[in-house]
Amino acid sequence: MNIILLGPPGAGKGTQARHLVETRGMVQLSTGDMLREAKNSGTEMGNRVAEVMAKGQLVTDEIVIGLIEEKLTTEKGAGFIFDGFPRTLAQADALAALLSKLGQSLHTVIEMRVDDDALVDRITARSTCSGCGEVYNDHTKPIPADGRCTNCGEQKEFTRRADDNEDSLRTRLMEYYKKTSPLIGYYYAKGDLRPVNGLADIKEVTASIEAVLG
Ligand code: AP5
Repeated sequence: MNIILLGPPGAGKGTQARHLVETRGMVQLSTGDMLREAKNSGTEMGNRVAEVMAKGQLVTDEIVIGLIEEKLTTEKGAGFIFDGFPRTLAQADALAALLSKLGQSLHTVIEMRVDDDALVDRITARSTCSGCGEVYNDHTKPIPADGRCTNCGEQKEFTRRADDNEDSLRTRLMEYYKKTSPLIGYYYAKGDLRPVNGLADIKEVTASIEAVLG
């Protein structure tokens, strides 16, 4: 089963993807995570990517499609969760072609519906365990008082992302509405779109997604 989690920055795509990995053995393919890895590699491509991401703009289709293609042929599990991909119509077409080449198809596109005020609150309060990537939130899922991650049990640093500031977020939202939101119509027309209320609390969103996936 291959699914897309579609939604603006802070909709909860990463949070829900991690749950599906744990409970269903699916493979999370987050282009954001892949690009952050590339950014830290110090290569020329990594440096170019770092600049674009810091501004909140989209990296070129060519780069992200290349990253996804490589993972699709090397990673194995009970289906792929596309988290943050596709983000443009060109990426959506490329994904359909890549899956078809592998004899696979897309099961469902889960549209995580939220409102912009909630996104700003969530993004500016987010932090991540540098050990395992578990995502926390100052309001809804605070870092444990003993500084030990609830997922990996380690006392690692909890980091904030460089693009989680109001300026970058404004650009990220603009990019989403201009380039990514047309995918809602695209997948609706294909009959693949299933909306869930992303404003509910984390466990309720999980339950809605489970209900869609069956
Ligand atoms: P990426 O890493 O994909 O970031 P994003 O799409 O902006 O999404 P986020 O990771 O910020 O949010 P999320 O929806 O995963 O929310 P989360 O679960 O963390 O992309 C970063 C950059 O990389 C882009 O700007 C672009 O430059 C580049 N890029 C990536 N993919 C690309 C592509 N395909 N093409 C081109 N460029 C690309 O939750 C957020 C917070 O809210 C957390 O603190 C969490 O605890 C909390 N939270 C989650 N759910 C709930 C809930 N239900 N109630 C309350 N709080 C909640």
